[in-house]
Amino acid sequence: MGFEQVVYDPYDWKIHDDPYPTYRLLRDEAPAYYNEQRDFWALSRHEDVMAAFRDPVTFSNRRGVSIDDVGDAPAVMSFLGMDPPEHGRLRTLVSSGFTPRRVAQLEPRIRALATHYIDAFIERGACDFVDEFAGKLPMDVISEMVGVPPDDRDTLRGWADTVLHREEGSQAVPPAGQKAAAQLIGYFAQHVETRRKGAGDDDLTDALVAAEIEGDRLEDRDIIAFLFLMVIAGNETTTKLLANALYWISRNPEQRALLDADPGLIPGWAEETLRYDPSSQLIARTTTRDFDIHDRTIPEGAKLALLIGAANRDERVFGDPDTYAIERVTQPSLAFGQGTHFCLGASLARLEARVSLEEIHARLLNFEIDEAGLVRVHSSNVRGFAKMPIAFPPGKKEGAASS
Ligand code: HEM
Repeated sequence: MGFEQVVYDPYDWKIHDDPYPTYRLLRDEAPAYYNEQRDFWALSRHEDVMAAFRDPVTFSNRRGVSIDDVGDAPAVMSFLGMDPPEHGRLRTLVSSGFTPRRVAQLEPRIRALATHYIDAFIERGACDFVDEFAGKLPMDVISEMVGVPPDDRDTLRGWADTVLHREEGSQAVPPAGQKAAAQLIGYFAQHVETRRKGAGDDDLTDALVAAEIEGDRLEDRDIIAFLFLMVIAGNETTTKLLANALYWISRNPEQRALLDADPGLIPGWAEETLRYDPSSQLIARTTTRDFDIHDRTIPEGAKLALLIGAANRDERVFGDPDTYAIERVTQPSLAFGQGTHFCLGASLARLEARVSLEEIHARLLNFEIDEAGLVRVHSSNVRGFAKMPIAFPPGKKEGAASS
């Protein structure tokens, strides 16, 4: 098969069911793929994706990290959309909120949130896992870090979902998505203004309002863009990871038996889910020069998708890559990216996943997913479920922390 015969279109909803056979074709037949209709390139082999992540000079973030056509969507440029050295100055400022010590301190609070949500539905013996747990907990954690009050969180989550949704076959951000982005920006503009007036709460927003880079205060637009990024990058991806973890463990009973025999495998459960079916399937770059690879030349100024989902199944790196194996000794999965823009929230996401999955494993033992009720999200890069009905033997059970 030649380059042009493989078709990879992340806006075709059919591919959202199972992109992995297409990814294999890309890796084998078209490792430097060009989609003429959508005008983007794609790299799919682990080695190539990793190398591109590590070369911010050739592969720039300046025109964003999505291949979507953003049209008139409001421009929000956080440090995710910057290149070195500008990127590093801003990233350093917010990094203080994500040191291993600061993140570890959040564990009791994350466990209390997990317990709270499970308590609310455990006696019912059923729930929608996305609506009642996975969609709530990451938003709560981020909201508490930046000071969004509880009453506003569902509204913000609704806007974030709308920002990511794409109509079938369309590369454009739909009008509803543009409106939701404007609403999120408006909300955070208000939030920052309140904090500038001194109504602070000693959280990350206050730290940013007070922060200085080389004597300069951070501008409101930088803080607003960062808060926007947290809600999109940190919330949606973690929500998807939690539900994907339940989905894949229930589809692999022999893996579930391993977990039941040794709950110490829970971190491996999260890690393997991130490798096998990562929430963030692709991250885009723009080339700053002509780039030769696999007998093709990707021209300067091209949109290039780095296919994390494909790289994580590359048999050149992972043995038996299409098998879900929670005991797998972790190879360099690219689920959190690599290099300059490596996910700032990776340790927080891993902590949220471990604590949530410990509580779920201890209390919702033998949960079953009603597969007929599953609904997938439709996004060009985020992969996971919008609805996941589950059932389990009802009743109060002790949590993992007390067992
Ligand atoms: C399972 C959960 C998560 C996944 C799969 C994920 C994935 C990613 C990926 C692939 C990148 C790299 C983007 C690039 O190279 O351009 C990234 C960056 C980032 N992530 Fe995450 N993320 C997750 C959770 C979080 C959380 C919980 C937070 C914070 C609360 C967060 C905050 C960020 C930020 C701020 C960046 C930009 C870093 C930079 O540009 O220097 N992420 N994430």
